Formats: sequence, structure tokens, C-alpha cells
Amino acid sequence: MGFIKNLLSLALLGALATALAPLDFPQEDIDSGKALQEIGRTAYDTAIARLEAHPTAKCTKDNVRVRKEWRRIPAAERIEYVKAVNCLMEKPNVYENVTGPRTMYDSFGVLHYKLTPYVHNSAYFLLFHRLYVWTFEDKLRTMCGYTGSFPYWEWGLDATTGVENSPVFDGSETSMGSNGEKVSGGGGGGNPMFPGGSGGGCVTKGPFVNYTVNFGPNTARDPLAYNPRCLKRDLNTQICAQWASLRNTTETITQSPDIALFQANLQGDFRWPDARKWGFAVHGGGHFAIAGDPGGDFYFSPLEPAFYLHHGQIDRMYFIWQNLDWEQRQTMAGTITMMDRPASRNGTLEDVLDIAPVGESYRFGQLLDTVGGSPFCFVYE
Ligand code: CU
Ligand code: CU
Repeated sequence: MGFIKNLLSLALLGALATALAPLDFPQEDIDSGKALQEIGRTAYDTAIARLEAHPTAKCTKDNVRVRKEWRRIPAAERIEYVKAVNCLMEKPNVYENVTGPRTMYDSFGVLHYKLTPYVHNSAYFLLFHRLYVWTFEDKLRTMCGYTGSFPYWEWGLDATTGVENSPVFDGSETSMGSNGEKVSGGGGGGNPMFPGGSGGGCVTKGPFVNYTVNFGPNTARDPLAYNPRCLKRDLNTQICAQWASLRNTTETITQSPDIALFQANLQGDFRWPDARKWGFAVHGGGHFAIAGDPGGDFYFSPLEPAFYLHHGQIDRMYFIWQNLDWEQRQTMAGTITMMDRPASRNGTLEDVLDIAPVGESYRFGQLLDTVGGSPFCFVYE
């Protein structure tokens, strides 16, 4: 009997292994987003099956949270989300000896600023941002009573119809606020490396029109000093279409056989010759489709409320990529400094990620799985 059972499970494994293989889709399915939907579904099913096989006391199939694209979240829930973010913007800052940060929302900006040199183009990029975004979600729930779905922004859905018309940025009460006011010449507050977008000035309507950015930019003499100003955006459909399309998103996942190349392709890390064709890549593409101040600021971009939707999508890509070959994709690659400058040792899954006083510390190895053995309990639909 045992032999038959083994044979059966071998056959099952074989079926699974072939189920992993077909990642070559017709080009039109890649461009339309159909392929991304399919691999997203496969990843979702894989994660749920793992959860069903290994439920924990804290995470089961019944309480797992499903993260959703912004436009697929009901209007009332989107309004609740904005309300919860506004609530975090009223809770006290948890950092001492800084003059600029005033709120719990700001504290996340301080944390990102302090860790930036270690968590971008390094071994820690994906797992740091996974814990960071999740901790933000956790604070929305525990400090501000949010009970809805956590959102992500799939940039590619707006690459042809225009970021300005996106349900994320259309300025309606169910959006994350509008574009910035059009300023002559465009590009106000954006990174000078990029062509200007269609706004550049202060957000004109919708949520966050009255939000005050309290500190930064990173070029200031004291970046953490109080420097109140409006939220500026410079929405840029051209950058979205060129670097963060559905095709770029899909092929970044399907053309990255290992973690080193996946994170390089995602960030456009030119140290990898294969990654150069992605240009600014989806990570930069999403950031600079928003741009402005502080959205275009490498250190302070989390002070832009849409940051968390953008990095939700980055984490979703990681989730999909991992779950397309789960057994092989629980590793880390790279060193512990940005672009290995200054030169540093390799990161390991035993390293501890310390995000005090904003959140709890974990070993990186505890952050690999979103459905168990970790602080997390979520999947992406
Ligand atoms: Cu970051
Ligand atoms: Cu980023």
C-alpha cells in the first residue's frame, strides 16, 4: 500500500512539476494582462493549498486576508481606507529627537529614510518592503480600526488610458487624491532625471488635498527638520507605459529564473546585463509615474500616501513569482548595502530586520511566506 501511495504522490508531483512549466504565453495575452491574471491565479491557488495543508493557530483558510487591486475594492471600503490613513496622520510620532515628524504616519517615513541605504538594490529589498507595508497595514487596523482589504495599484491597468484617469488618482472621493496642479514646464518637484509629467504642483482635489508633508526632502541640510508643505504630484503616463506596463510586469516575473535576477529585473539594477533592458523597471516606473514631492524622493517617498499601493504591487509581484515555484524560491541574494556601496557581506535569512520603534523585529527567514510561519496571513487576488 505504501508503495502504491508513493507512486501516486510521485505521479502527483509530476503533474505539479509540469503545471509549473508553461510560462510562455502568446504575446497578446501578455500585453492584455490575461497572462498576468493566469499566473496570479496559479500563485493564489498555490498559497491557499499550502495554507490548507499547514494551517497555524493564527492563520487559516478562513481568516486569511485577500489583498486587492484598488479598483476592485468597493467604494465604501476605499473611503474607509483613506479615513484610516488620515487617522494614522493624527496619531503621535514614535521617534525621539527629531523636529519634523509629527505623526505615526510620519514615523514610517523616518524608518524608510534611516534604512534606505541598506534596503534598496540589496539582499533586503523585497523582504524589508514586505514587512514595512504589512506593518503599515497592521497599524491601520490596530490603531485606526480599518477592517477592509489592503489595496495595491496595478500600474499597467492605467498605462494606456492615462494615470490621470486612474481610479487611484482621478481626484474623486474614492481615489487617493488627484494629480498635482499643472505647472508650466511640468516636472515640478520631480526627479530631474525624468521627463516631466502632467502636473507638478500641489494636489488639487480629493483625499489628501489638505495633507501636510512635514519633513524632507533628502537634499535638505537636516532632512528630518520640520518643513511643512503641500503634497505635490506629477503624474506621468509615458513612464507608466514604458516601464510599468502589464507586459513589463508579466515578463519581469516570467523571465526571472532566480531571486538575484528577479530583484535586479524588478529594480532595473544595471549591474546585471540581463536587467538593463528593463530601464528604470517596474519599481522605478511605478514611483515615477507618481513622482512629485515627496513621491519622487528616494528616501521620503513613503510620505506620499500612494506609496503603499505601489509597494503593494511590488510585493504582489514577489508573491506571484515565489508561488510559481515555491520550493525553489525561498532564498536571498545580494549584499547588505545599496549597489554594494560600500562593499559589504552577503545578506542571510538569519539576519534580523529591526524596525523599532515603528514595528516588531523578525529574522528575514520569517518573512518569506505570507501564509504561515510568519507574522503574515495574506494572499493577493
Ligand atoms: Cu523603499
Ligand atoms: Cu520603492
